Amino acid sequence: MSSNAPPLAGVIGHPIGHSKSPRLHGHWLRTYGLAGHYIPMQVERRDIPEMLRLLPRLGFCGLNVTVPHKETALELADLVTDRAALIGAANTLIFRSDGKVHADNTDGYGFISNLRQNAPEWDPRRGPAAIFGAGGAARAVIVALLESGVPEIRLSNRTRARAERLRADFGAKMVVYDWARAGNMLDDAATVVNATSLGMTGQPDLRVPLDGLSPDMLVTDIVYTPLETPLLAEARNRGCTVVDGLGMLLHQAVPGFERWFGLRPEVDETLRHVVLAE
Ligand code: ATR
Repeated sequence: MSSNAPPLAGVIGHPIGHSKSPRLHGHWLRTYGLAGHYIPMQVERRDIPEMLRLLPRLGFCGLNVTVPHKETALELADLVTDRAALIGAANTLIFRSDGKVHADNTDGYGFISNLRQNAPEWDPRRGPAAIFGAGGAARAVIVALLESGVPEIRLSNRTRARAERLRADFGAKMVVYDWARAGNMLDDAATVVNATSLGMTGQPDLRVPLDGLSPDMLVTDIVYTPLETPLLAEARNRGCTVVDGLGMLLHQAVPGFERWFGLRPEVDETLRHVVLAE
């Protein structure tokens, strides 16, 4: 590979057609007039080890990783950031010049950056956070909130054992609520997060009593189709500060783009429109 060839990056997953990352990175490459390409690749798990050996030799600087390969990417990496290890999954790979694959997870960073940008007055240290869900997204949210100094995390999940597992992994600040009593998590909470897929187009709604929502709370959702989920609509009606989930997707892409293409990109309204356009 000659050193003046344009840098390459991309996203691997299975399927990959739905991924918004090519549109997002493509917009930044065009906006900043950078030479480089970002390519979606549908990859089977069994092909990933060979791919990680070959792509750096073809001029790739790294990859984003999406469902279902995030755990595999973490396992195969030579070096892993603390936050990726804590989350147990990688969404960003950097191919280093010494041949090593460095794995990071920027989902939690994306979550916090979205809230900081859209609700600058929000202070996670002000009170407990209530989280619905205990899957991969919930893990990233929990790691980010703990790093930000949240005093307590209340967690409720349909399958209680998964929430208990997170309490075992993340320790004393975690309190598990039964799914039938998930609404009780809202009492005096400062931050409320839906980290389940409920409320997404084509999925059932989050059917948790929401009368505990009050105007001093920040409410956000990892779901961004629709942008205003039933939870966010209810929270808005009750006067809460509301931040939709699209910004998490946009912000999680920033660290990878900066590493691969050498410039820290902006998350702005234009980017939101570009990513939402069909
Ligand atoms: P992700 O990595 O996006 O978090 P996941 O690990 O499949 O995906 O987690 C999906 C989350 O949505 C889980 O908390 C899941 O609850 P279970 O652990 O009980 O499966 C939650 N979820 C999905 N469909 C649900 C439903 N119909 N009712 C309640 N929770 C649901």
